[in-house]
Amino acid sequence: MKSIRDLSLADKRVLVRVDFNVPMDEQGNITDDIRIRMAVPTLQYILDKQGKLIICSHMGRPKGQKVKEFSLAPIAKHLEMLLGRTVSLAPDCIGVETLALAEKMKSGEVLLLENLRFHKEETENDRDFSKQLGALAEVYINDAFAVSHRAHASVVGVAEFFEEKGAGLLLQTEMDYFHKSMDNPIRPLVALVGGAKVSSKLGALQNMLDKVDSMIIGGAMANTFLKSMGVDVGASKIEEDLLDTAQEFIKSAEQKDVRLYFPVDFVVADRFAPDAVCKNVTFRDIPDGWMALDIGPATTIYFQEALADARTIVWNGPMGAFEMDAFSRGTMALCQTVANSHALSITGGGDSNAAVKKAGEEKNISYMSTGGGAFLHLMEGKTLPGVDALN
Ligand code: 3PG
Repeated sequence: MKSIRDLSLADKRVLVRVDFNVPMDEQGNITDDIRIRMAVPTLQYILDKQGKLIICSHMGRPKGQKVKEFSLAPIAKHLEMLLGRTVSLAPDCIGVETLALAEKMKSGEVLLLENLRFHKEETENDRDFSKQLGALAEVYINDAFAVSHRAHASVVGVAEFFEEKGAGLLLQTEMDYFHKSMDNPIRPLVALVGGAKVSSKLGALQNMLDKVDSMIIGGAMANTFLKSMGVDVGASKIEEDLLDTAQEFIKSAEQKDVRLYFPVDFVVADRFAPDAVCKNVTFRDIPDGWMALDIGPATTIYFQEALADARTIVWNGPMGAFEMDAFSRGTMALCQTVANSHALSITGGGDSNAAVKKAGEEKNISYMSTGGGAFLHLMEGKTLPGVDALN
């Protein structure tokens, strides 16, 4: 895979696929611009090299319809501020008018294309649509790590129409950190996994058994494992159909000599609400009708011990319903442990990154991935179609 640094960009139209799928409030204000800021080094690099910068992205899932709330207009304004220069918004991402705008660009100018997903052909990886995108530029750069697990036209199909193509600085950084942590880690490598469902992370859990030295499992997904070991988890969420799979997973970890850590106590609540009645109980004492919504204080110490001598930590998923303050202590405490650790620490996924933010520890994590689905895809041991397309 070529890097953007291997390509000559001066006076060329450079189409850069970024992932500006950022959260917005109802007034159309960007509530977290990290994905935009992380793409700036690549965009600035192209401008510094006197390229003509054409940026494309999706936003939301408008399913092939032109939906005003998913327009990239607010992004254009925000980007003007970050780049300190004019960013023109094309009325569409393909078509005669957009092509004309691209063709008359001068070096150092910036054109942002309108939301790619206003055309259903984008998600269908349609060849003709890819070709039209390809016609806009002479060089193609993928800097959209967070959507590189999708075989979409602007991520995969378009690459066929470029001789000159490569990875942007963000995509490269993401891949480098992932390889450093999962393929070539300084050991011990400890995975800290949480979140709601075993089903959504089963592939990642199974693949990681071949890579990690130990694995800490918290969050609602731990309930299914505990239940499979005969623990009465009360009204806690479990996935009944995965009880056998959970058992097999535990056996497989034993065979592979991977130490698993599960919660030994919980903060339980009488309902799923911020003002629920709650108390700390051991895993044996979850009352009927109550649900585990956070790991308890003993578990926090137990997990902190498990992280103590880690040299590499990969974290995906919170330890409880941390968005409610009453159930955030476990996640916040572990976040601080990871942040204070001397290990190389990588987090991925919207919830883990939100937890790091809530704990105010962004600066103390070695790398916070911009990917959710893409990060999980790599954890599953799969390659990214968007990266494959550059090779
Ligand atoms: C993400 O937010 O994970 C990426 O932008 C991909 O979005 P998608 O899940 O709608 O394809």
